[in-house]
Amino acid sequence: MRLILIGFGVVGQGFAEILRDKADELAQRYSFKATIVGVATRSRGALYHPAGLKIDTLLKAIAQGHLNHYPNTTGLKRDVDIAAILEQADADAVLECAYSNFDDAQPALEYCRTALRSGKHLVLANKGPIALAYHELQTLAREQGRQLRFEATVMAGTPALQLAREGIAGSHINAARGILNGTTNYILTQMERGMAYEEALAQAQALGYAEADPTADVGGWDAAGKVLILGAALFNQQWKMADLQVEGIEHITRKDIEVAHEKGERWKLLAEATPEGGKVRPVRIPQYDPLATVQGATNAITYTSDLLGHVTLVGPGAGRKETGAALLDDLLAIQRYGE
Ligand code: HSE
Repeated sequence: MRLILIGFGVVGQGFAEILRDKADELAQRYSFKATIVGVATRSRGALYHPAGLKIDTLLKAIAQGHLNHYPNTTGLKRDVDIAAILEQADADAVLECAYSNFDDAQPALEYCRTALRSGKHLVLANKGPIALAYHELQTLAREQGRQLRFEATVMAGTPALQLAREGIAGSHINAARGILNGTTNYILTQMERGMAYEEALAQAQALGYAEADPTADVGGWDAAGKVLILGAALFNQQWKMADLQVEGIEHITRKDIEVAHEKGERWKLLAEATPEGGKVRPVRIPQYDPLATVQGATNAITYTSDLLGHVTLVGPGAGRKETGAALLDDLLAIQRYGE
């Protein structure tokens, strides 16, 4: 499978490392072989080589700050125009892993359209295009006979979307409720252990959990983006941010956390979606609630459905290899369901 990566930050690099480290295992178990032919970033250069780019060399170059540190080889093209590469390159799938923007999802949304129109499968870790334009992209993918997959956008590599859309496809889901932002859950957990808010946020950033602009995390907007994605993918809705009730954790103090603790409760930033609408807000829940036991950057989601009642999935919701893993799983699904 020939791949183009748009964005080469924490997630793109995590994915590239997995591809490098698991190459033999993936070839043996699934006859899966992937080559990165293009990597395009907004401010750190863009490379294309029809014969494939070397992952170790790519990682070294980006660690030095810019893809221009990738050494010259015959056939290598530098500073390529992203749209032109998407249109012209011989590639099977485009992985959109630039950072999420919920205002207009650009320029990623336009790249997604171009990738699908030029007959490539599209896999996203970037939440913006799915949150804002899922139906349009899905229609385009169907018209082109290509797959649109975005497991990474909700709970990283923990298969929250796959569980709902494939695992329990015969059940009618009435509601999804969970902890869908790793950064805020990490901060709340650390504050419970006595750490100051700012220090906990700095740690979440250092660990690669937070968004490029962490106000999206602490303000509840990242979780809200995931509610938009759940609304579209599970309930066939196309809500806008303005349709949701969104509140973050900025106003939760250590004192609030202590008071809750004395009453046997914990603060959690809960995200909820039903066919009628969605919301994100901090809620005090009893410590015996399964969601109260979810600690650190771990996420959880409970689906309520007609046949199964409550089904809860708990697992990583952010992180370098944890999100990179979702991109790999989507590519394996593309291979499994036919290219
Ligand atoms: N910033 C996000 C989080 C990353 O903390 O959950 C995963 O979407």
